[in-house]
Amino acid sequence: MKKVKTSFFCQHCGYMSPKWLGKCPSCSEWNCFAEELVSEPESGSRAEMQFDGKPLPIAEIPAEEGERTLTGLAEIDRVLGGGIVSGSAILVGGEPGIGKSTLMLQMMKKLASNGRKVLYVSGEESAHQIKLRSNRIDASTQNLQDLLVLVEVSLDKILDQVNRVQPSIVVIDSIQTVYSGDLMSAPGSVGQVRESSSRLILTAKKNGIPLFLIGHVTKDGSIAGPKVLEHMVDTVLYFEGDSGHAYRIIRAIKNRFGPTNEIGVFEMMDQGLREVDNPSAFFLAERPHNAPGSVVVSSLEGTRPILVEIQALVSQSNLGVPRRTSIGVDHNRVSLLVAVLDKICGLNLGGSDIFINVAGGVRVEEPAVDLGVVSAMASSFLDRPVDPGTIILGEVGLTGEVRAVSQMDVRIRESVRLGFNRCIVPSSNLSSLSKKAKIEIHPIRSLKDLLENLF
Ligand code: TYD
Ligand code: MG
Repeated sequence: MKKVKTSFFCQHCGYMSPKWLGKCPSCSEWNCFAEELVSEPESGSRAEMQFDGKPLPIAEIPAEEGERTLTGLAEIDRVLGGGIVSGSAILVGGEPGIGKSTLMLQMMKKLASNGRKVLYVSGEESAHQIKLRSNRIDASTQNLQDLLVLVEVSLDKILDQVNRVQPSIVVIDSIQTVYSGDLMSAPGSVGQVRESSSRLILTAKKNGIPLFLIGHVTKDGSIAGPKVLEHMVDTVLYFEGDSGHAYRIIRAIKNRFGPTNEIGVFEMMDQGLREVDNPSAFFLAERPHNAPGSVVVSSLEGTRPILVEIQALVSQSNLGVPRRTSIGVDHNRVSLLVAVLDKICGLNLGGSDIFINVAGGVRVEEPAVDLGVVSAMASSFLDRPVDPGTIILGEVGLTGEVRAVSQMDVRIRESVRLGFNRCIVPSSNLSSLSKKAKIEIHPIRSLKDLLENLF
């Protein structure tokens, strides 16, 4: 008989303790420990990975990263760093209803029609529902003999089928539905998710099969239950976007085999997801011309620059404490920029409500957009539009100085491509700029220079 023991796990972060605790020493949550059965690894399950146990000089370790499979969706291939690495485990996270299952099925249809054997395991939908979805998306794909659908939640049965079918790719939709009979806790709990993922990942690594795990995300943005899952997989892809907009962004927030923060942009259509290969044009499509408070910046997402419009509305406040709202830009960053603008440039923003929005619902987190945010606020406050052919780049420091941003050349190239003819850049970036760009360059040192230049 298998030896069984129990441990206590923090349901928030997965911290393990041999006894019950009121407060988690790892994440400081209260009352979050639940008892879970922990089965001793059978000989042969976890110990399957055979390691030599002998240190090797790094020069003697073979460097090949394994074969990569192209998915046929260029946006996804780029996000993954050039296709799927064999034996890699990829977590696809996102809020319910955002399109995880749709994307996976679409991708798997493409792979199957290229002759790869795909095992799509679903614990969420019936085979009939999956068939209906499949008919809806990408109807052009033919020859789907190799797309195998398995409706199953039992971990052992899934592993059994993986070993029997020997597919070239496995999708688990979703990891929260997978259930191991060895544990008493409910599917979706930390213990279950951890156990199921680790056994699935192990099987995938052993057989060199790429494994996609779909994971639901809670309202606060973490993968439901276990943060631990992110440490266990090689790549974490997150679905961003909201129900109010049709576009969806896939972002690699962790990637052992490629760049992080790389994004792929899709639009959710009636027939599944459509790749958006020119996201800047897509996000700038509805930009108003000559409206005060609208500024275009270039944000570097992974290796790709994307132009987005930042909008600001600064209006006289009727409240004792003025409202400050920012969507798409970090709230604290905006507060800081408001203070700098107020103190250094003498714009009296203290009694104003300030709203910042990144058009299209995109999220930009780079400091390189600081100068754009400042310009948008100043433009709205002074009620003077910024020239629509101008792109603004730079990080702002606390004394009002404008600091250099990275990879200026790629950003400027993208701006030229989209027809911008003026660019405001930090003067410290000048030396690194190629002289050939067909764009007027205006170097500035401080926010004072900025206001003189813009208005
Ligand atoms: P789904 O992939 O089921 O989301 P998830 O697996 O992340 O929970 O996506 C469901 C949503 O996508 C649903 O609201 C309908 C919409 N949708 C389309 O707009 N077009 C389509 O072709 C499909 C299949 C779904
Ligand atoms: Mg789904």
